[in-house]
Amino acid sequence: MNKTNDWLKLRQDFPILNQTVHGKPLVYFDNAATSQKPRAVIDALVHYYERDNANVHRGIHELSNRSTNAFEAARARAARFINAKSADEIIWTRGTTEGINLVAAAWGAKYLNAGDVILLTELEHHSNLVPWQMIAQRTGAKVAYLPVTGDEGTLDLSKLDSLLTSQVKLLSMVHVSNSMGTLNPVAEICARAKKLGIVTLVDGAQSAGHLPVDVQAIGCDFFAFSGHKICGPTGIGALYGRTEILETLPPYQGGGEMILSVGFHQTEFKHAPHRFEAGTPDISGPIGLHAAMDYLDAIGREKIWQHDQELANYAYEKLSALNNIRLFGPKKNRAGLVSFLLKDVHAHDVVTLADQGGVALRGGHHCTQPLMHKLGVESTARASFYFYNTRSEVDRFVEVVQEIQKFFGQ
Ligand code: ALA
Repeated sequence: MNKTNDWLKLRQDFPILNQTVHGKPLVYFDNAATSQKPRAVIDALVHYYERDNANVHRGIHELSNRSTNAFEAARARAARFINAKSADEIIWTRGTTEGINLVAAAWGAKYLNAGDVILLTELEHHSNLVPWQMIAQRTGAKVAYLPVTGDEGTLDLSKLDSLLTSQVKLLSMVHVSNSMGTLNPVAEICARAKKLGIVTLVDGAQSAGHLPVDVQAIGCDFFAFSGHKICGPTGIGALYGRTEILETLPPYQGGGEMILSVGFHQTEFKHAPHRFEAGTPDISGPIGLHAAMDYLDAIGREKIWQHDQELANYAYEKLSALNNIRLFGPKKNRAGLVSFLLKDVHAHDVVTLADQGGVALRGGHHCTQPLMHKLGVESTARASFYFYNTRSEVDRFVEVVQEIQKFFGQ
């Protein structure tokens, strides 16, 4: 079977892709916002609700045993997915945002003091920025930023040594930028931080489902990702934390499930990860995510990365040939997305007109407002790809962009 046919065959696993929008075949290029779901994930959710639904950990009846086993098997699968040492290093969250909030609240409250510095990068999504500003305000810590170089959206690593001062207690950075498509050298940056005893967090929202991830090789202390961006359900995500650190942290929220014993005046908490999971969790979420992780690894994330990059390079090349267009993100080693602006056309107009042509893009600040300000723009239009997208869809997308330019008299 040749390569193109393999990818086209996988596309048949996604029922949603087979439809028309405004009378045109759907071209779904909003994968950085959320991915579509294969039949295997939809079936896993249906199976769970039709056969096994029960609360976890508390019951001793058959259905509760089944749901508990499936819930914990998914945790072990998530550990393998990112090469954590143990399932106990995986905390279920609602997504990347909650994972980062958990670290900011639990780790930050325990370890941050007035005058400490939290080092971020200018590429960060609001989810890896606002929680740190909030904990900085509560503790008197400060937030500092590793700069980006310009429209290419790469980090200026020459500034890293001077920013890694003895006040820095934590460094948190995005693995793959959602608005630029930059792949950051996270292993190298974590190694430089670690030498100075700085705790590190990697935001894996745009990387976990697109390239192989090995948290031990990266050497980070925390790694957060979302299920819905990697073919899984919405509302579920995972936070990896090294056991040695997790065991030192106070709980994130209080309630049932996270306790060993409760008295009227004091409580003894469970070990990690259960200490961080108060109340009835999302049970179907991990089960659907388990199916998604199996699905992706059956394809192979090295192959997905290669395919994403090929499409992004192809799109970048074709868009570069147009006049009156500004392109963002690195020219080399770009992840599977392209951000752009047409001269004198608002990104929202690009997205609205592209939608009329059946092409789903995203336009706006992509939850990276500070980065947009730095680049001197309010917003960009973005096409983001996944393994079920094709070169002919990129051709259609570029055709639509040209039609939009014509409409605006360019
Ligand atoms: N962070 C998501 C995006 O980039 C919502 O679209």
